[in-house]
Amino acid sequence: KNIAIIMGGFSSEYEISLKSGNVVYQTLNNEKYAAYRIHIFKNKWVYVDDEDQEFPVDRNDFSITINNSKIKFDCVFNAIHGTPGEDGYMQAYFKLLNIPQTSCGMYQAALTFNKRDCLSVLKPYGIKTAESFYVNLGDKIYEQAIVNKVGLPCFVKANKAGSSFGITKVYKTEDLQNAIEVAFKEDDEIIIESFLDGTEVSVGVIKYKGETKVLPITEIVSDNDFFDYKAKYLGESKEITPARITKEQEEKVNNVAKKVYEILKMTGFSRSEYIFKDGEPHLLEVNTVPGLTKASILPQQAAAAGISLSELFENAIEESLK
Ligand code: DAL
Ligand code: MG
Repeated sequence: KNIAIIMGGFSSEYEISLKSGNVVYQTLNNEKYAAYRIHIFKNKWVYVDDEDQEFPVDRNDFSITINNSKIKFDCVFNAIHGTPGEDGYMQAYFKLLNIPQTSCGMYQAALTFNKRDCLSVLKPYGIKTAESFYVNLGDKIYEQAIVNKVGLPCFVKANKAGSSFGITKVYKTEDLQNAIEVAFKEDDEIIIESFLDGTEVSVGVIKYKGETKVLPITEIVSDNDFFDYKAKYLGESKEITPARITKEQEEKVNNVAKKVYEILKMTGFSRSEYIFKDGEPHLLEVNTVPGLTKASILPQQAAAAGISLSELFENAIEESLK
């Protein structure tokens, strides 16, 4: 089968995506599959061969032509974090072309990539979340109203972004304005959330051999003030799998994560973060194209479940072809 591994993208996360995509490529480039690296950038969509030569992608049918022969793809492995891979655009494009792809559907991607909308949809199902306050670009900002609602410290986040780009933990009312400006660099909507003081865990859920499977839970212990970019990618954190939580906490967060996956009618990978407050897991967000780099959490969780990288990726392809 011909597999196109799409990577890159238009957001600040493109470098992480290239790393994820290359891990997928190295893992899938075997006898079973013919794997092709496809870079998707604003100014070019290209197939990149092992000598780093680039060949254009025909966007009419997502094919490439090498030595006068046209190659079409049986499946797309989606390794684009952020837009346009994690927010529904690529999902819609491949759906229209009738090419299976490994991540969730267009609607699930668009919804989950929007933290505000996703949490709002899940709340009525009893999923607990932090207190929040939303601001759009151009809105008049009343710092005191924000602090009255969410308290201090609080988190200011870009509504649609990943890898902690645009996130600041704010301790003082007078620092809010600056944090809001930082977040607006990533998105024109921002979300300000109360600080939940408790154990943070990351929960991977996948479709595995036709079933919804919750992977072993990872506890996040950041050396920094929170699980920021440097903690995520430069080793300034400890990720402990399985998490050091009680059996009861484990059961609760397992159930919530599975419920979220099923409420949203997810397919493919998902990894969501929760913080325990008053014994209950509070959902921060759902990622549908989680990092697949060497430092990333979901591959560690799969390994803890006895699922190798190649099995994880091959399963994702086989599930998408069903
Ligand atoms: N957004 C990054 C890639 C993650 O969720 O792992
Ligand atoms: Mg994220």
